[in-house]
Formats: sequence, C-alpha cells, structure tokens
Amino acid sequence: MNILVTGANGQLGQTFKDLQSQYKNHKFTFAGRKALDITKAQDVMAYFEQNQFDCVLNCAAYTAVDQAEDEPDQAYLINKTGVEHLVKACESFNVRLIHFSTDYVFNGQKNQPYSETDAVNPQCLYGASKLAGETLILNSKLSSLIIRTSWLYSEYGHNFMNSMKKLGQDRDSLRIVYDQIGTPTYARDLAKATMTCIEKHNIWVGQQEIYHFSNEGVASWYDFALAIFEKDNISCQVQPILSKDYPTKAKRPPYSVLDKSKFKVDFGIDIPHWLKSLKSFEL
Ligand SMILES: NC(=O)c1ccc[n+]([C@@H]2O[C@H](COP(=O)([O-])OP(=O)(O)OC[C@H]3O[C@@H](n4cnc5c(N)ncnc54)[C@H](OP(=O)(O)O)[C@@H]3O)[C@@H](O)[C@H]2O)c1
Repeated sequence: MNILVTGANGQLGQTFKDLQSQYKNHKFTFAGRKALDITKAQDVMAYFEQNQFDCVLNCAAYTAVDQAEDEPDQAYLINKTGVEHLVKACESFNVRLIHFSTDYVFNGQKNQPYSETDAVNPQCLYGASKLAGETLILNSKLSSLIIRTSWLYSEYGHNFMNSMKKLGQDRDSLRIVYDQIGTPTYARDLAKATMTCIEKHNIWVGQQEIYHFSNEGVASWYDFALAIFEKDNISCQVQPILSKDYPTKAKRPPYSVLDKSKFKVDFGIDIPHWLKSLKSFEL
C-alpha cells in the first residue's frame, strides 16, 4: 500500500518512520507540516493530485492541551478544519483514512473503562476540537478508522516521560497528581497496532469505525512518574498531590482508561501492559 503519514515530525509520525523498515511491503511518504500543511485546503488537494496514496495516517494535530484554552481558533483550525481538508481529499481520490484521537473526548466521570459507544463530553477545548475532527470523519462516507489513544509517550518531542526525566534530574523532589487515572501508551505499540489495522483493512473498509487503543493496565500520573524514575535510576522524590493543588488551564478527565476489547477481538492482537512497555523501552 502507498501510505501517507501527515504530521510526520511529531512523536507518533516519527515512530512510524522508525518502524517503516519492518513493513517493506508498504511504501511510506512522510510529510511534516512544511511539506503538507493540512490547514491549507488547496495545498492538501494539490498534494493528493500529485501523489497517489491508498491510506493516510493522520498524525498531524494541535496537541498543546493547556495552550488550546488560549488559542481556540488555532486548535480548531488544525484539529477540525485540517481534518475536513483531509476528508475531502481522501473522498476525492478514494483514499482510506486512519485518524488519531484522544481519551480527552470523555468527561472522566465513569469508573469503568470507556468503550467506543460511551457518550462523549469533552471538558477542555483540546478535547472538544478533537471531537469536532472525529465528527467530520464519522459524517463522511470515507473508509476510515478513528483510533482514540491516551497518555502517549516516546523518545520524541514533548511528552510526560521526557518532561519527567528532565525535571527528575534537575530537582530533588516533585509533586505529581494521583487523582487522574488513565493508561500510558508507548507510541511504538500504537504504531504497530495501527499497522495491523492496515494489514487487516478488510475488517473496516467501507465503514467509519472508532477503536480504542492504549497499553493495558491503569496508572495515575504519580505512578507513571515513579515508574519512569525507577527505570532510569533517578533519585528524585515524588509526592502524590490532588489535581486541585496543581491547577491547570485545561480541565482533564479524572478517569480515562480506555476499553480495548473491540480492538483486541477485531484485530486479534495482545496488548502489552504499560509497565512492561516502559521497561522494555531503550533509547
Ligand atoms: N500526546 C498525547 O499524549 C496524546 C494523547 C492522546 C491522543 N493523542 C493524539 O495522537 C496523535 C499524535 O499525537 P502526537 O503526540 O504525536 O502529537 P505531536 O507530537 O504534537 O505531533 C503533532 C504533529 O502535527 C504537526 N502539525 C501541527 N499542525 C499541523 C498542520 N497544520 N499541518 C501538518 N502538520 C501539523 C506538528 O507539527 P509542528 O511540530 O510543526 O507543530 C507535529 O509534528 C494526535 O492526534 C493526538 O491528538 C496524543
């Protein structure tokens, strides 16, 4: 298959780059924002006219959760309008779309893992803008998958693991919230699972499907920080605190564990526990 990866310089995009040599039966094109700005309708259409693709992996997104509260136009421009341009181009050229979304579409008031059919109700602007992108795809006739994931980390870019490593080396102690519960997801596990979706495309072609994917297990940010420090022998002390004692601009869901049953059954994969993936992670 000819696969276009948009937002190729983000952490998920770069992870697909790392994996491409394991999927030699596919041809990948990696387009960062400079090569393909998804907010420019004409550029997107021209890019699809000039190149032939079978599938798009949309890794382009506005992901600055707190900053989005101050930049709603920019967040919607990328997470909604940009997606709209991709949908139109995919429809025009009969290209399948795999799009990534977030656990932040939920309000986090449940205490059981969220399934794909649970009601959405984002509590922050980032979540709302991602939901707007999802809605556009679901209202299209495109063969498409929306893969919602959570707490993504990798060696690349800004993510909780990289921030903790840096802060943990610079400071003697840190206060980390323990009343937000979710699941860390290693970007490589998500990328590999996505490649399984591509290889088993017969399952979803002709449909618009939502799937949840994260690593197995649950954690608070406090647990995640402790595990990062233990793995890297960082001696920083970690103090558990409540979210109310660490105010942020954007409201996060207190509970956003994703139920991955549908993904596991449909695509027949085993998902590693988050701790196992973190421990296996080597730079
Ligand atoms: N990170 C998480 O914890 C998390 C959790 C749940 C879901 N997700 C979802 O997972 C997906 C991948 O996230 P990620 O962590 O890989 O994000 P990321 O590291 O922030 O990467 C996003 C990429 O999109 C690019 N981009 C922004 N605007 C663009 C535009 N107009 N045209 C083309 N590219 C553009 C960015 O380019 P610049 O570098 O130039 O800005 C960046 O390289 C996103 O859909 C995100 O919503 C992420």
